[in-house]
Amino acid sequence: MNFLVCNTYEEVSQEAAKIFEAQLKAKPDSVLGLATGSTPLGLYRELIRAYQCGGVDFSRVTSINLDEYYPIEPTHEQSYRYFMDTNLFNHININKENTFVPNGKAADPAAESVAYDERVKRLGGIDLQLLGIGENGHIGFNEPSEQLHAGTHVEVLTESTRQANSRFFASLDEVPTHAITMGMTSILTARKIVLLACGKNKHDVVMAMLDDKITTSIPATLLKCHPDMTLLCDNAAFKG
Ligand code: PGA
Repeated sequence: MNFLVCNTYEEVSQEAAKIFEAQLKAKPDSVLGLATGSTPLGLYRELIRAYQCGGVDFSRVTSINLDEYYPIEPTHEQSYRYFMDTNLFNHININKENTFVPNGKAADPAAESVAYDERVKRLGGIDLQLLGIGENGHIGFNEPSEQLHAGTHVEVLTESTRQANSRFFASLDEVPTHAITMGMTSILTARKIVLLACGKNKHDVVMAMLDDKITTSIPATLLKCHPDMTLLCDNAAFKG
């Protein structure tokens, strides 16, 4: 695992942007695995800026997002499709037809999950996967558990995750009870992974990434098995 501590959130975002820009220079038709949450917002701002300055071209990129609430309309302001459109895709020259987020209103979410993994395979796999990390070590919506799923699947959201995410909804009742998320194998088969962790509330989980243990009770620790994984964190997450 490569590990880099930056002074600030802005520097983490800039370092992550450098990795994405280098990836797109080396392979303009890259398949990018993308994430939602507050952490990637700075990176997305950097990528939009780089695009506006002519420094990066997304015209041949395909993107695959980690997860989506279920059920949810793609036009819902808290859907991850809406998040990606408003925070990145609407501001760069990516072809929207080449951007994929699990379908939050699929009639058969289990079939949608199988089809999602098949799509990733047909695309030749993910070249560069971006990840945030939950305070409890979750990756995507893969919550701590004795057993984790390998492939994309429907996950029942834990009460604590629904509580944490209720800040974005009018009330807890409105937070969806399920999500469709890529599984651990889907994530670990990406050729390169960048994991971002910022803020002192991520300190404990960053420490768990730096020790020698791997456990499904902190799903992110499985990433230590990956041959090309970079953890970027800020001072607040490192020092606590
Ligand atoms: P955050 O979420 O970026 O909003 O901290 C990360 C996550 O829960 O995976």
